[in-house]
Amino acid sequence: MLDAADRAHTIAAITDDEVADAIEAAVSQIRRNLPSFTYAAQNHSSVNNFYPPVPNDQWTAGFWPGTIWLAYEATGDKLFRYAAQIHVQSFLHRIENRIATDHHDMGFLYSPTCVAAWKLVGDEDGRHAALLAADQLLERFHEKGEFLQAWGAMGAPDNYRFIIDCLVNLPLLYWASHESGNPVYRDKALKHARTTLAHSVRPDHSTYHTFYMDPETGAPVRGATKQGYKDDSAWARGQAWGIAGMAVCYRYEKDEAYLEAFENLLAYYLKRLPDDLVPYWDLTFTEGDEPRDSSAAAITACGLLEMAELVDEHRAAELKDLAARMLASLWRNYAVRDPEVSNGLVLHGTYSKKTPYNTCRGEGVDECVAWGDYYYFEGLTRLSRQWAPYW
Ligand code: GLY
Repeated sequence: MLDAADRAHTIAAITDDEVADAIEAAVSQIRRNLPSFTYAAQNHSSVNNFYPPVPNDQWTAGFWPGTIWLAYEATGDKLFRYAAQIHVQSFLHRIENRIATDHHDMGFLYSPTCVAAWKLVGDEDGRHAALLAADQLLERFHEKGEFLQAWGAMGAPDNYRFIIDCLVNLPLLYWASHESGNPVYRDKALKHARTTLAHSVRPDHSTYHTFYMDPETGAPVRGATKQGYKDDSAWARGQAWGIAGMAVCYRYEKDEAYLEAFENLLAYYLKRLPDDLVPYWDLTFTEGDEPRDSSAAAITACGLLEMAELVDEHRAAELKDLAARMLASLWRNYAVRDPEVSNGLVLHGTYSKKTPYNTCRGEGVDECVAWGDYYYFEGLTRLSRQWAPYW
């Protein structure tokens, strides 16, 4: 393995022409998918590289409409707007009827769909649905321990925990405070982010996927994994959610602790990358045959591009350059170029790999994953022009 700085330079940054080609390829693939996925959601991951249609009841259902909004922004084509607004109605129905909403992923679901619809085209139903989703998320806040419970029945002792991924749900709360004028959403977001920083990041700046708190006292209990290799490993996507999460939190709260955590998490992540800048699914692995998680690279690239908007010119240029190398690797070696091969945008993602030491089901290994496609396209969009985030 090369050291982090040298390794980044084995891949030339993506060029403007490549960004344009990659966006064109993504838009064509999204257009081809509209007939299958305007009145249906995409599964969280592909099966043999093809997403099956599913009902709108997974935590991942927001990413496909998010890619449609990105395609709308890239082209101005009203067909994309029309399809994305059909999804907004499905998301309004979902939150009004609380369909599969007994978890914290309201930001993943409602930011790239309904907040996007409000910001881009003034869709009132989108705004209403996103505020309802923010209210649902608030209900998952525990005063004892000051965190948003990730999964399951509220207060259940075996689920009294948060996960690092949730940092990316927080922009929905910040947005809701801004829209409604009610500071309670922001207050809970701030507390959750501080609790995450206090407990999810280990002294070496790797991260726990999940962290249990004591339901009686609110005291920290222990870190554990669900989707990583084992409790004390660093799940690649968890580290990526941490990097991107710190960047978005820093946009909303200029707390230097977020910036410092971003830099530390990134430094750990970079040290564990193989030469093509796309991590293995858990950062325990740095070579060999374990599957990659291309989605972690796409999420990280977007985190770098977000932070590049918020720091001094010199650091911004470094972060942009690194993101442009990560996205180059994805476009050149992981992106789908032939619709006969896949109906996704990026190959070689990993949703959940089962090991003897974790508790996930094991699905979507070495497949396209919905958020990988979304963040890849968001990253390309951010490189192509100044972009106003949905988050
Ligand atoms: N937020 C769950 C995952 O990244 O798989």
